[in-house]
Amino acid sequence: MQVLAVASEIYPLVKTGGLADVAGALPLALERHGVGTTTLIPGYKQVMARVHASGTARSVFNWGEFYGGWAEIIQAEVAGLKLFVLNAPHLFERDGGIYGNGAVDWGDNWRRFAALSRAGADIAGGLLADYRPDLVHVHDWQAALTLAYMRYGAAVATPSVITIHNLAFQGQYDAGIFAELGLPDEAMSIHGVEYYGGVGYLKAGLQSAWAITTVSPSYAQEIRTPEFGMGLEGLLNSRSASLVGIVNGIDIDQWNPQTDPHLPVHYSADSLDDRQSNRHHVEERFGLDRDDNLLLCLVSRLTWQKGIDVLVDCLDDIVGMGAKVALLGNGDARFEGEIHAAAGRHPGRIGVVTGYDEGLSHQLTAGADAILVPSRFEPCGLTQLHGLRYGCVPIVTRTGGLADTIIDANEAALTAKVATGFQFEPLARQPFLNAIRRALNVHREPGDWRQMQIQAMKSDVSWDHSAECYIDVYRSLLRGTHL
Ligand code: ADP
Ligand code: GLC
Repeated sequence: MQVLAVASEIYPLVKTGGLADVAGALPLALERHGVGTTTLIPGYKQVMARVHASGTARSVFNWGEFYGGWAEIIQAEVAGLKLFVLNAPHLFERDGGIYGNGAVDWGDNWRRFAALSRAGADIAGGLLADYRPDLVHVHDWQAALTLAYMRYGAAVATPSVITIHNLAFQGQYDAGIFAELGLPDEAMSIHGVEYYGGVGYLKAGLQSAWAITTVSPSYAQEIRTPEFGMGLEGLLNSRSASLVGIVNGIDIDQWNPQTDPHLPVHYSADSLDDRQSNRHHVEERFGLDRDDNLLLCLVSRLTWQKGIDVLVDCLDDIVGMGAKVALLGNGDARFEGEIHAAAGRHPGRIGVVTGYDEGLSHQLTAGADAILVPSRFEPCGLTQLHGLRYGCVPIVTRTGGLADTIIDANEAALTAKVATGFQFEPLARQPFLNAIRRALNVHREPGDWRQMQIQAMKSDVSWDHSAECYIDVYRSLLRGTHL
């Protein structure tokens, strides 16, 4: 089986969040199960640099004029990933972020991701002489229009899957862009791309996909309600028979405490005492006191989704309870300022690094006792999975993928020795502080804490099972069975 994936980011070439991790890891996991994937991605500056450095790049199609400029498709292999790259300098080769500059999105994102999607649909429809996929799998709004181009074009009979990583980002534009998309007039209907009078990219993908997946079973349920559906709950309910939740895995080779090149000291569930050196490294790096008190960490985008406003509200109390906190993140300037201010109030007890630092994220997870994930909503979440793998006990809100991947340390679970973390709800100051209080209580009993760490490290966070779930979806579509 050959799958064409379409995604706007892919680790290790370009990443702003978990979407890239999934787009990079899923093909490798599918490959181990005999399913080949080639992923179409935009030719951003950093991507083109990696593609050229790989020595594998060859141009396989040249449009000449494509969405306002010259464009070609390059085929390449980078870091074990088979890629098609849409090299369109007028759309993708620019300084700044991949979606915008600072807080402002690029004004031509509608055109950039329509072009990516059109390229995906063209490839699915037989544009390239020696490649035609059996199935197309697109990720999030940036790739969603692929399915509309397929449906109203040459690839109408090719099975398709869309994965929702985050319903908060939908790609909604003014109706005025429709004329430039190159779709037939009939597509501008409620059954096509039309959305509240404008054009909705994600909506179009959800409407056109043969199957819809999202990244955890709980989120698959939640998005059918007004609270989490962000306006799309009606559509998702109407397609509920085609909607399935498959929890993400992580790359357990990159995230392996026994071999991780980022770690000062390697360890396993059998040598947890060796975590101590990693803890000291974190204390030093974050300017924290060296003591045995509970050391909490955060690795996160600093946004409202991630509950950072509530965390900020809790920081003084957390320090008051005796814990220390190491925070790594970037995002909203307001939150960056507020956590720096908290660190200023509590020298030695709160340490902050703002920015994006892959290596440091590994070191933190290997050195801290617990990782905080107080998200308001969380389709899946990956940092709690990193925490499980590294014996860094997750403290999470009971929502989405966080609810599905962590076993709360209630009395019964503690007695049965199956607990892997702490859950709380709703996201608010007092429930959050109560969860931290519970963690402090278990942490006071070193044997109990160690038991939880070991249990956490036993959790299956690999891609294996989830890859099989995706393959089940693919197979049923190829048999002609809509889910
Ligand atoms: P989201 O995609 O919503 O941001 P996820 O938990 O799915 O949330 O994925 C976030 C990914 O980005 C994880 O791999 C996490 O380790 C990484 N990450 C987030 N912030 C940082 C940061 N400041 N430095 C390094 N890695 C980060
Ligand atoms: C999104 C979600 C996150 C999920 C990631 C990968 O960014 O916010 O919960 O883990 O996609 O699926």
